[in-house]
Amino acid sequence: MKKLFLILAIFFLISGCQGPKPESPRKSEIPENEIEPAVWGRNYPVEYDLWKKTAEGKPAGLSKYKKGSDLGGIIYDKISEFPFLSVIYSGMAFSIEYNEPRGHYYMMTDTLEIDPSRRGPGGVCLTCKSPYANPLREQMGNDYFGKPFDEVHSKIPDKHKELGVSCIECHNPKTMQNRITKFIAIEGFKKIGKNPEELGHQELRSAVCAQCHVTYTIPRDENNKAEYAFFPWDGSKYGDISIENIIKVLKSNPKHKEWTHKVTGYRLAFIRHPEYELYTRNSVHFNANVSCADCHMPYKRVGAYKVSDHNVTSPLKTGMKSCIVCHSEGEEYLRNQVFTIQDRTISTMLKAGYKIAYVAKYIERINELVKDGKEVDKTLLSRIQDLYEESVYRLIFIIAENSLGFHNPTETMRILSDSISFASECEKITVKILSENGVDYNSIKLSLMNHLNNRGKKRLNFKPEQEFRDPYNILYNFIPEKVEER
Ligand code: HEC
Ligand code: HEC
Ligand code: HEC
Ligand code: HEC
Repeated sequence: MKKLFLILAIFFLISGCQGPKPESPRKSEIPENEIEPAVWGRNYPVEYDLWKKTAEGKPAGLSKYKKGSDLGGIIYDKISEFPFLSVIYSGMAFSIEYNEPRGHYYMMTDTLEIDPSRRGPGGVCLTCKSPYANPLREQMGNDYFGKPFDEVHSKIPDKHKELGVSCIECHNPKTMQNRITKFIAIEGFKKIGKNPEELGHQELRSAVCAQCHVTYTIPRDENNKAEYAFFPWDGSKYGDISIENIIKVLKSNPKHKEWTHKVTGYRLAFIRHPEYELYTRNSVHFNANVSCADCHMPYKRVGAYKVSDHNVTSPLKTGMKSCIVCHSEGEEYLRNQVFTIQDRTISTMLKAGYKIAYVAKYIERINELVKDGKEVDKTLLSRIQDLYEESVYRLIFIIAENSLGFHNPTETMRILSDSISFASECEKITVKILSENGVDYNSIKLSLMNHLNNRGKKRLNFKPEQEFRDPYNILYNFIPEKVEER
């Protein structure tokens, strides 16, 4: 009897995990190019309502570091969280205004409201933010990328000017199967040897997110206008997109250098939110066949229906329910696991970040020496530049990735420790050059407050209460505790 009960229990458990029941009989056909989510919502009102809920704030205080969507309306400023970024990104729009992500509802409004310098590249910004990226590109050809943002944005119908990710970008309207639609992602998956039409069910549950939660490169023309946008995945394979291969692509063409770093004077490339790349590179969860949707869109019971939670957010803000599907440990235990991984990551990120920021200042001083006619070996100068690039791209990769290490803790630590190694080698050479020229590197400061205050049109200031401190207090063995003294 007991045994039968167990078998039945297992049967129900398994059948319960088969995915949701169809929610309601199809009411009407959804046209092939239907962008308006409300039309989809007539057939699928439960998913539609959940999708709209990404506009709502989430209970505050549940995440330790990712508070972008917490209730309370505070804007979390990455430059205040990581003050060294004001030096490392100096000269580019990200050093002016750069905020923590929040709900999907806001992706277009936040793009429109952020400091205008961030829209500088042009229409290309819509590629990730608007469901009109495909039609606009078809209509405008390559002008779509580099024409001024406002001009391209003005072509979107008024009622959709602020519309972010929509049903049509993740679903086939006839079958409701997941699919990827963004041209940039279709090209990207082909590069890693995956035909986008042959992605399996579980693969798609991550690939739909990989349309945006990836890094991309925007090659620039002589006037720094955008020519195109692509995923730097050339030479990589599905499940193995490494930072090393990405850096190879970034360095392969001067056009991939998108900005000029004000402190060092270097032309540099940039890396954006590589959640998919970090996650899929041999992480424990990826290897266990877990998808982005498993953790961020868990099944949810709504009335009589079981649906995927389209109110996409951090699992920490929904009681770790998505984890508990597989992990029997309780909510507090799992939350602490996440916090421990993130604390270790933050501590290491801070050590890498400050080392690189100081090295940038040493390079700035060396450039002044060269300008003043001091003889400095050219091969050493180019070695310094190369080491700096290798170091800073690795740091940016982890800074821009939004899980603070959780998506792949061991790969995160590997990348950060390589970043520190490259920076240390660079530091060794720069300090030697400085001392040979009678400059005491100890006298060189970051002058953070000059970088942190009065930023951009909004005149943004440093928010000291948002600074991420080293949870293990190791950092302050090397740099002053007070931001004003760094
Ligand atoms: C069309 C591009 C796009 C797609 C597709 C997309 N995202 Fe996002 N996502 C964004 C942007 C942009 C933001 C930040 C929005 C903002 O802050 O204004 C974001 C924010 C988030 C957040 C933070 C939410 C919060 O409450 O703070 C999570 C988590 C997230 N996305 C996960 C996912 C997952 C999982 C998928 C796939 C099921 C996905 N996203 C698909 C662009 C996208
Ligand atoms: C095993 C569970 C798991 C998987 C799989 C997973 N994530 Fe996450 N993700 C997390 C956790 C935990 C965090 C940290 C959230 C926090 O600190 O609040 C996070 C953070 C994020 C954030 C930042 C959220 C915020 O509130 O700002 C984004 C964006 C994100 N993940 C996207 C993705 C994408 C895209 C994928 C697939 C490539 C993915 N995640 C796979 C668990 C997961
Ligand atoms: C960022 C991508 C994304 C967007 C945008 C999106 N969905 Fe989904 N949707 C998913 C994923 C992932 C699943 C799970 C699919 C699976 O496992 O087969 C899903 C599943 C569904 C299902 C199947 C039943 C269920 O709940 O699992 C329906 C119906 C659905 N979505 C409707 C919608 C509607 C309506 C919209 C627009 C209001 C929408 N979706 C927007 C990613 C998305
Ligand atoms: C679909 C199943 C599934 C989901 C959902 C899931 N996990 Fe896991 N998790 C696994 C498996 C399988 C392993 C590997 C465990 C093993 O091999 O013993 C693992 C390992 C881990 C580990 C140890 C490995 C590492 O990367 O540090 C942690 C911590 C963890 N999970 C936390 C979480 C958290 C937090 C969530 C929710 C945000 C979550 N998991 C969601 C299946 C899952």
